[in-house]
Amino acid sequence: MAGNESCSRPWWGGYSSPMKAAVHTSYGPPDVVRIAEVEKPTAKDNEVLVKVHATTVNRTDCGFRAGKPFFVRFLTGLIRPKVTVLGYELAGEVEAVGSGVTSFVVGDRVFGFTGSRFGAHAEYLAVPEDGLLATMPANLTYEQAAPSTEGSHYALSMIRAAKIGSGQAVLVNGATGAVGSAAVQLLKSLGAEVTAVCGTEHVELVRGLGADRVIDYTAEDFTKDEQTYDLVLDAVGKSSFGQCKRLLKPGGIYVSSDFGPLSQNPILALITPLFGGRKVLFPIPTDRSAREQEMVKYFKELIESGEFKPVIDRRYPLDEIVEAYRYVETGQKIGNVVISVEPSTS
Ligand SMILES: NC(=O)c1ccc[n+]([C@@H]2O[C@H](COP(=O)([O-])OP(=O)(O)OC[C@H]3O[C@@H](n4cnc5c(N)ncnc54)[C@H](OP(=O)(O)O)[C@@H]3O)[C@@H](O)[C@H]2O)c1
Repeated sequence: MAGNESCSRPWWGGYSSPMKAAVHTSYGPPDVVRIAEVEKPTAKDNEVLVKVHATTVNRTDCGFRAGKPFFVRFLTGLIRPKVTVLGYELAGEVEAVGSGVTSFVVGDRVFGFTGSRFGAHAEYLAVPEDGLLATMPANLTYEQAAPSTEGSHYALSMIRAAKIGSGQAVLVNGATGAVGSAAVQLLKSLGAEVTAVCGTEHVELVRGLGADRVIDYTAEDFTKDEQTYDLVLDAVGKSSFGQCKRLLKPGGIYVSSDFGPLSQNPILALITPLFGGRKVLFPIPTDRSAREQEMVKYFKELIESGEFKPVIDRRYPLDEIVEAYRYVETGQKIGNVVISVEPSTS
């Protein structure tokens, strides 16, 4: 993946074909990231080379950069990160295609996500033709398209695991985050009845996303709500199954974006289905299957039909990515934080 092989200037003084990327070689706070020159990738036979115009800093990037929770390091590198250029989402233009590529041509405007390969915090990225990439929705700019796939991917994985369909009642906690704001829109596109929980300032925003009812968490404790639901989807991981059980209809499902205060959610997801009543699901989204490829195309259709529009909070240039990380880690971003990448002409 682009730029992940090397991150410091080589001994001979430079790269024959350099590009700019946000690089981190140790786990830690946002300051571990710096802008550096790395080798520009080339497209292998089955790859497309994308000139990245926009990407995002999201919670997945933050988790991998910080190496938290600690056990993820067994996958990401125990002492130092195996992947040194993060960036999970991208929108850009196809600059070159490998000899075996048939689905994309030079000049295509594309968007998608890289999954655990990362690498989109860079000017260029090589992506397999059968990766999680599609031509961009006609009605979006690069900056609007880049944040279409991370939060929505998590949200759709949870919604599909719970098999939610038309007429079912769903409560979304944290409806203003990247996951929550996507969840509200995706659920409405499926015909679900959505109650959304957010802070006072964003009640109108969340209504605008299509929520049928909004609970302001500063005025009301949603866990004391009188209504019952087929699904409680906690998109900010601020609740527990114990608190939300009374909100669930018989056979209702609780799903959270986080492990839970005692990391209990994955364990509850193994135990609770055995009893046949209200249960916890903990779907782990993958990034390599045909299902995820289909998801990118599904998001494209929803964007083109006007049923889904990623919420954008702030934009930063690539050079200010450390500031973007700091902002995302306040836990108060609304929707997504976009990074504009200005590719060099060399
Ligand atoms: N570690 C990983 O790799 C990873 C990856 C993806 C997602 N996640 C998890 O997924 C969750 C969502 O991430 P995200 O990017 O969608 O959103 P986020 O940036 O974590 O969430 C920000 C939003 O949460 C709302 N919020 C804060 N406290 C709240 C509360 N007590 N109740 C309800 N809403 C509250 C804030 O809006 P208000 O101003 O309205 O409060 C803000 O809009 C996070 O918990 C994150 O840990 C983790």
